[in-house]
Amino acid sequence: MKTRDKNRTSDAIVVGGGLIGLATAWELREAGASVTVLEKESPGCGASRVAAGMLAPIGELDFGEPELLAMNLKSRELYPDFVGKIESETGLDTGYRNCGALHVALDRDESGELKRIMELQQSHGLDSKWLGPMAARDLEPGISPSLAGAVLVEEDAVVDPRALVEALRAGLSGRGVRIEISEATGLVLEGDRVIGVETPAGTFGAGAVVAAPGAEAGIAPWLPEEVRPPVRPVKGQVVELGGDPEDPACQRILGSERVYIAPRPDGRVILGATVEEMGFDQRVTGGGIHELLREAYRLLPDVAEMEFLGATAGLRPGTPDNLPVIGRTEIEGLILATGHYRNGILLAPVTAKSVAGLIGGEEPGAIGAASPHRFEREE
Ligand code: GLY
Repeated sequence: MKTRDKNRTSDAIVVGGGLIGLATAWELREAGASVTVLEKESPGCGASRVAAGMLAPIGELDFGEPELLAMNLKSRELYPDFVGKIESETGLDTGYRNCGALHVALDRDESGELKRIMELQQSHGLDSKWLGPMAARDLEPGISPSLAGAVLVEEDAVVDPRALVEALRAGLSGRGVRIEISEATGLVLEGDRVIGVETPAGTFGAGAVVAAPGAEAGIAPWLPEEVRPPVRPVKGQVVELGGDPEDPACQRILGSERVYIAPRPDGRVILGATVEEMGFDQRVTGGGIHELLREAYRLLPDVAEMEFLGATAGLRPGTPDNLPVIGRTEIEGLILATGHYRNGILLAPVTAKSVAGLIGGEEPGAIGAASPHRFEREE
């Protein structure tokens, strides 16, 4: 970098204006750093636009990944303060609600599997309880009368990722953080240290760069190959239905083996989500919508009466071990924050706080298992 334009120099640059990037910029600013966000299209136009926003570390639990469970639980704990501060600073509603979740078994086979998961949850000290069909329908009268049983998780919550992105944009602007619509084309290095990012609009200088490119991380040409993480796109399609906020179709997140239904404060519900290994294909397909509507109808027959508002597809950043990739790289000052797969919305607060901590010289702490170095091959 030949010149240091004061307007283009900040303590940190965040490349990627999805929820992870914006939340990280927010926490960096909170820690007193000046920050520039570089986003090539528009903030929140990737996976954050499509995500249902379930904050369900217990209900969505996969016991194959205990480190992920620990990160998810930590981030869930951080959520109320995280959104509380954004909402009080901006006056905007992020759609965060402590609504709880009901995981429903629709037949006897599903019931056996759901009970097994609940027992595992309980053996880890997590709070979930079994409800028979009548008790489940007392809580959620709209669910299928033929259900076999359900697990109630009162701790699970929901947020509206699009509303959260909008609130963060407003909050960042109020805090003097610039969001530049410009594509990163390269890193500026001085020896082994990053000192800026190149874009078609010129060079931006900073002492630290956070790479939060979501599903594109594995192919991002601006990241030197040796630090590009093994992230691949995993397509997810969702359907949005409109309903009456005075008479909502459900009060809680509802889940079955094949679909989840996330309620919004304005009466809408989001049906999600397909999991498809289709590369960067983002087409909404008849098959995808059919599957979601069919399974949602089995779970909550009232969806048949709701207005079809649309369907979208997005790309989750998947990794070989389903853990995110968060941490320092071999390029000094360059930090990765990507690979959140199915947990990007939930993991935003712990990612953002941890990355701000790393830039401030702290140890990785809660996100230690997400280190990018775990993929380094032994020679
Ligand atoms: N977190 C839910 C999903 O990725 O579909």
